[in-house]
Amino acid sequence: MDEMLSLARNLVNVQEDERRIIARELHDRIGQSLTVLKLLLNEAMNLPSDKAGATLGEAQSLVNELMSLVRYLSLELRPKMLDDLGLLPALLYLFESYTSHTHINVRFEHYGLHRKFPPEIGIAAYRIVQEALNNVALHAGVSEVKVLAWSDRKVLFIRIEDLGKGFNLTGANNNNGLNNIQGRAMLVEGKLTVQSAPGKGTVINAELPVITRIRKETAGKSDDNRNTGR
Ligand SMILES: Nc1ncnc2c1ncn2[C@@H]1O[C@H](COP(=O)(O)OP(=O)(O)O)[C@@H](O)[C@H]1O
Ligand SMILES: [Mg+2]
Repeated sequence: MDEMLSLARNLVNVQEDERRIIARELHDRIGQSLTVLKLLLNEAMNLPSDKAGATLGEAQSLVNELMSLVRYLSLELRPKMLDDLGLLPALLYLFESYTSHTHINVRFEHYGLHRKFPPEIGIAAYRIVQEALNNVALHAGVSEVKVLAWSDRKVLFIRIEDLGKGFNLTGANNNNGLNNIQGRAMLVEGKLTVQSAPGKGTVINAELPVITRIRKETAGKSDDNRNTGR
């Protein structure tokens, strides 16, 4: 019970941390860029039309930056693609955006992912991959990461592997990232293990049951309603 309580507390903390980061990005980066954009447009309006080109060009590249930032933030908040298209397209899109931001190449191998997973399994899988990839970018110091995902009728396996710096597992981890994804796996009755050692790289293995107990209990009764809404 204590474990559940601290798990719940952790998840709430993580959510608040994520919100704080997004609020800051919204305020600082988007707010500031919009202010600059307004100034540039003002300037362009006051210039003779044959002189305004350069200023407008600057404004346009700022708009492009803003668009990619908004796309990134909405992906962080809730990967809409996961609900609309499923896990595989959402992961592919995540990898594309990750590589373009970090210049870290993702080697992805998968099997049996062309199917619909229960929403709670999809989001758990997605968040696990997302956190593991963010850790690789922040801590591993590598230019490539390997992601494996495969599923049979019962289980979805995920493995994220890098050959980077690694770290000491016995050091107390008061950070929230790894605790959070461990909690997410537990909440859907799955398992998540981390293997790492200094200089030896890091491997995260997750095993998520495709049919959770909650689903089994309601299966049959509400099975047909599963995809009709939330
Ligand atoms: N792929 C990795 N390579 C090297 N070190 C890692 C990796 N993943 C995690 N770590 C180490 O484990 C610590 C805890 O990770 P995490 O719980 O995600 O917290 P955070 O990323 O916020 O520091 C990190 O601070 C880092 O030292
Ligand atoms: Mg982290």
